[in-house]
Amino acid sequence: MIITKKIMRNVTLTAHPLGCRQYVQNQIDWVKAHADQADNPLYRPVTPSNFPKRVLILGGSTGYGLSSRVVSAFAGGADTINVSFERAPSETKTATPGWYNTTAFEAIAKEAGLKAESVFGDAFSNETKKRTAQKIRETLKQVDLVIYSLASPLRTDPATGVTYRSVLKPIGEAFTALSVDMDSPVVKQATIEPAENGQAEETVKVMGGEDWSLWIDYLIKENLLAPNAMTVAYSYIGPKITYPVYREGTIGFAKEHLEESANNITKSLEKLNGKAFVSVNKALVTRASAVIPVVPLYMALLYQVMKEKGLHEGCTEQIYRLFTDRLYANETVPTDDKGRIRLDDWEMRQEIQAEVEKRWTLQQEGQPLQKGDLEGVKQEYDQIHGFGFPNIDYSLDVDPRVI
Ligand code: NAI
Repeated sequence: MIITKKIMRNVTLTAHPLGCRQYVQNQIDWVKAHADQADNPLYRPVTPSNFPKRVLILGGSTGYGLSSRVVSAFAGGADTINVSFERAPSETKTATPGWYNTTAFEAIAKEAGLKAESVFGDAFSNETKKRTAQKIRETLKQVDLVIYSLASPLRTDPATGVTYRSVLKPIGEAFTALSVDMDSPVVKQATIEPAENGQAEETVKVMGGEDWSLWIDYLIKENLLAPNAMTVAYSYIGPKITYPVYREGTIGFAKEHLEESANNITKSLEKLNGKAFVSVNKALVTRASAVIPVVPLYMALLYQVMKEKGLHEGCTEQIYRLFTDRLYANETVPTDDKGRIRLDDWEMRQEIQAEVEKRWTLQQEGQPLQKGDLEGVKQEYDQIHGFGFPNIDYSLDVDPRVI
């Protein structure tokens, strides 16, 4: 079939197998090129002996989780297991991008002599935890690092069977701000109604730290974490302009819970001399972030400013810095006063934020976006679904089951 991009309410419904393979290959190429490049002032070369050799990535098929897998394997030579929720392809329907990415990654990693396995299923369920434990026993014996990179709209609590939904809403009052859609450069007003009773708590159940803690407790109980094992979950803070819908909204509530959970998880890991961290990452276009109102406008301005200053990064560059500059650089991992790793340091630089704020004031409802890089944002969004690669002929008939 000829696979074209199909978008509904800012969500892309199709994915291109050859494009997803290209997307993964590009990440691998970037990591390999930088891992032994000694003269780059922004990205240090890798000392593979410091790196973890067995890594479990929860949510390792797209976005930050996929990049965590690529950096683990192709900078550090790690064997990896991914856990993610995917739809396989059929003769007439494309798979999720995560399915294609995972299939491509595992083929390339195996060719390079690395172990690379996946468990497809609902990471929140006890059954997936059990299947993952079995997979670790069979392939890696134990793991040195667990990356927690799930982004999900819902979670069924395995203890009660109750399903909770996460929402991206302000708390208390409606929030109105300028925004853009991926498919139109025209700036418009977006109003987001406040969360209803219980929605903030539900978002905490889905995107807070409860499931992360359950995973780590379970892996400790099953003796699947190696001495000195670390675990990292990803969070976001962002600028004041997005606070009402992000950091002070329902999702921010959940991120605070996630960040507090790191302390308790570190206590659980004490016997292994292990540690849990939250890493606050940069705003980037992923399947999860593209649907947050107001955020695409912020990202378009931020991308432009950071590109002009030579500081723009994608997921791969961010996670590469996480490993080389933070987690495995020295004895102690550098953090802020709340114990969080800050990979958003470049995004939050005073001069970057001041310029983004200045450009925000140029925007007018009904007018095209000014001095922003919406094209760059759209290009990244297309590429995470395997579209927009110049070397791929999208008019050719391809079998969606073959990658
Ligand atoms: P993403 O949508 O690209 O990746 C989410 C991953 O979770 C995918 O692998 C997906 O298959 C998996 N997943 C979702 N539900 C699942 C389930 N029930 N069972 C198993 N796997 C499931 O998202 P992204 O943006 O990479 O987000 C990952 C984390 O990074 C999130 O915690 C997010 O809040 C955080 N983050 C994202 C930022 C951004 O700008 N994109 C910035 C800072 C933090």
